[in-house]
Amino acid sequence: MRTFQTLADKYDTPLYLYDFDYMRDQYNKLKEAFRAKKSLICYAVKANSNLSVIKHFGDLGAGCDCVSIGEINRALRAGVKNYKIIFSGVGKRDEEIFEALQKDILLINLESEAELQRVELQAQKLQKQARISIRVNPNIDPKTHPYISTGLHENKFGVDLDTAKRMYIKAKNSEFLDPVGIHFHIGSQLTQLEPIKEASEVVTDLVRSLKVIDINIKFFDIGGGLGIQYDDETLIEPYDYAQAIFSTLHGLDVTIMCEPGRYLTANGGYFLTKVLYEKINGDKRFVIVDGAMNDLIRPSLYNAYHKIELVNQKEEQDESLCDVVGPVCESGDFFAKNIKLPHTQHDDLIVIKSAGAYCSTMSSNYNTRGRVAEVAFDSNGDRLIRRRETFEDMIALEKDYLKD
Ligand code: LLP
Repeated sequence: MRTFQTLADKYDTPLYLYDFDYMRDQYNKLKEAFRAKKSLICYAVKANSNLSVIKHFGDLGAGCDCVSIGEINRALRAGVKNYKIIFSGVGKRDEEIFEALQKDILLINLESEAELQRVELQAQKLQKQARISIRVNPNIDPKTHPYISTGLHENKFGVDLDTAKRMYIKAKNSEFLDPVGIHFHIGSQLTQLEPIKEASEVVTDLVRSLKVIDINIKFFDIGGGLGIQYDDETLIEPYDYAQAIFSTLHGLDVTIMCEPGRYLTANGGYFLTKVLYEKINGDKRFVIVDGAMNDLIRPSLYNAYHKIELVNQKEEQDESLCDVVGPVCESGDFFAKNIKLPHTQHDDLIVIKSAGAYCSTMSSNYNTRGRVAEVAFDSNGDRLIRRRETFEDMIALEKDYLKD
């Protein structure tokens, strides 16, 4: 049987591990919940953009929600069809818009009036009609961490209802724009259904008022944001989520789209790291491991909680409080503070859980530490899906410019 230990021995640490069976099951649960209506699940590539992860969802029928031309090209490279790809984001370069239009993706999601003009211009250059949707900011508090709340007017995302309506009319009157979608996304790691339902009510009202003026919305995109259990959070059940959305449609005939990232991948991911050594400063105990904030930044950046366990811990071992920290030269380089762990030895293996979303994608080369390897496993076995970055990889873009 594969264990964390055998995989760490085989691939070395630090290491990301992804459970592809878990990810498939999460996708199927969500798809099943929306079965009563036409739906398209567009995986939010930003959560985990490894090509094999994207392909895994693509093979199950998912589309992709992308926020840069880089993500669009990843989705295409992973075999996702262009007509299932949408392009969101609050700032898009002209070149990105042009390329997305050339590649004939399903929708470009507009987040401002200025952006509508830029997209119209690029579509005109290509002499084609750009299919667009508009991101509405419904001004609803999603009740999540302020850094990942996006549906309030104080956030930079989307446009208010009046602006949206004005934009739809402009788009309808443009030879180069085809307004076919509407979108909202009020935040991430949502654990309460009510704000989503409220937002959906507000947005369906707008869809109905657009219908009256002969603007027919075909794609109703409810964004991403479904929360997961890092600790003991209450969860929104996919079935309840779907039913809540259905209840706001009041007979509208639309394809429901959603853009989950975290829900599909987070709890299928594990970060394995080895203990280098322990030290005591005064009465403070530190467990120093070979992974660091550059590999997994969520605790440092958001004070986020990730469950941490000592692999191979024996029941009778005494535990005491410690901080689990990495080798990076920052006091903020920690994975956990004041958690209980038994005394550890050099090379003991530690697993950091819920590491499948916003972990590898937010990693960096800070302190010239190479990005770590990624491995997928399922009931059939395990395989490398990203090799460990070497020193040569890290200097590849600089070395040719080195002066004598
Ligand atoms: N759609 C849009 C427009 C988004 O902005 C996001 C996430 C998603 C979908 C996917 O949301 P999800 O289903 O994964 O919650 N780095 C942060 C999360 C940032 C989320 C940004 N937008 C973290 O580590 O918690």
